[in-house]
Amino acid sequence: MTAQLSKKSEAWSARFSEPVSDLVKRYTASVFFDKRMADADIQGSLAHAEMLAHQGIISTQDHADIQRGMAQIQAEIAAGKFEWMLDLEDVHLNIEKRLTELVGDAGKRLHTGRSRNDQVATDIRLYMRAAIDGIAGLLRDLRLALLDLAEQHADTILPGFTHMQVAQPITFGHHMLAYVEMFSRDAERMTDCRKRVNRLPLGAAALAGTTFPIDRERVAKTLGFEEVCRNSLDAVSDRDFAIEFCAAAALVMTHISRMSEELVIWMSPRVGFIDIADRFCTGSSIMPQKKNPDVPELARGKTGRVNGHLIGLLTLMKGQPLAYNKDNQEDKEPLFDTVDTVTDTLRIFADMARGITVKPEAMRAAALQGYATATDLADYLVKKGLPFRDAHEAVARAVRACEQRGGDLTDLSLDEMRTFSPLIEADVFNVLTLEGSVAARNHIGGTAPNQVRAAIANWRAQLA
Ligand code: ARG
Repeated sequence: MTAQLSKKSEAWSARFSEPVSDLVKRYTASVFFDKRMADADIQGSLAHAEMLAHQGIISTQDHADIQRGMAQIQAEIAAGKFEWMLDLEDVHLNIEKRLTELVGDAGKRLHTGRSRNDQVATDIRLYMRAAIDGIAGLLRDLRLALLDLAEQHADTILPGFTHMQVAQPITFGHHMLAYVEMFSRDAERMTDCRKRVNRLPLGAAALAGTTFPIDRERVAKTLGFEEVCRNSLDAVSDRDFAIEFCAAAALVMTHISRMSEELVIWMSPRVGFIDIADRFCTGSSIMPQKKNPDVPELARGKTGRVNGHLIGLLTLMKGQPLAYNKDNQEDKEPLFDTVDTVTDTLRIFADMARGITVKPEAMRAAALQGYATATDLADYLVKKGLPFRDAHEAVARAVRACEQRGGDLTDLSLDEMRTFSPLIEADVFNVLTLEGSVAARNHIGGTAPNQVRAAIANWRAQLA
């Protein structure tokens, strides 16, 4: 449904001697994109009208007419029958005009004590509150999917990397839990940001408040806002809550992007740690053998636009004097695109996490290369009394010897080992196994399988 240029020339007021050109109309209009706030706009108007009637500012008959008209408008929008007019600039004027067509003067009284400035700020906040709740739910779902994967692979061992070099063995469950931590902080940030979104600007009117005896607390209560904005200038002009949301969203995407990068690497045939279900991959138009991890690649790419929206909004805000300026109309497209991108991405990722096949043999084979248990040998020597720096040196020499002749630390005989330190005894071989290595990191936050299971239980209880 697109807005059309209408014949309704009365949309420009008595103040002007000529209408704006079609180009200017198109340039200044926002209805193409802000019509997605129609539902919020109607909720806000209904709460405002209820308060006006309660305060005796409009009659109960006017209130009833407004309710009736809005119900019809809602139905028209839901049925795709509402005629959006470019001439009427934005969602607010489109709905108000239609209301007046339907119910006459009551429609014209709706805007008493209100401005589009406090109206739009209210609409954005209502829209964002619902979007944040949706995103919080999706973050929960993604974490539940990752917890399932972590549980299935609490004992599966793969090499952990630093600098993309084999570092130490870790469990795949532990690796998944790292993302659960990241997405949990993302969820916390969303919840925190929601508090500042959930405040009512209505009543600020254009910028200074209104001369009518309004009851802002009443409107706040009707709309489920936790507080009213305390300063009318601030209420209509700042969009810091939207910026904050975009910052939280950029972090969600940044975490998604890091995970994507790993999925892409893990799925490369060179690595072969995982497979991703076909429904998330595509082939090549020229190379018949290809199966490409398009979804994680695209998610990594889309992170760029979400990060960009954050910078866009910060830049939009930084030069604006108080109070409202039309610049603020530019907040919506980045905001909406952020909501859409994060929402779709999280939905797909929760589904995709359930479509990941882990290949424990490939992970294990990789963990057996690269001397992943060298730190365990150093720790072993420390426990036998050697200062850590000396132990580090002894093991470095052992690794170098293995490298020169080929083979792993475990391929050395006990006698050969003892040439690097006489403290080494037969019990060293338990320490050098992958299972021994991960099981030994047995403390809160460590990679040991039983710690992974405990962390999973903890998260499940929190997410229940
Ligand atoms: N479409 C406008 C926006 O998005 C609504 C507020 C317009 N206010 C005004 N004084 N022109 O910000």
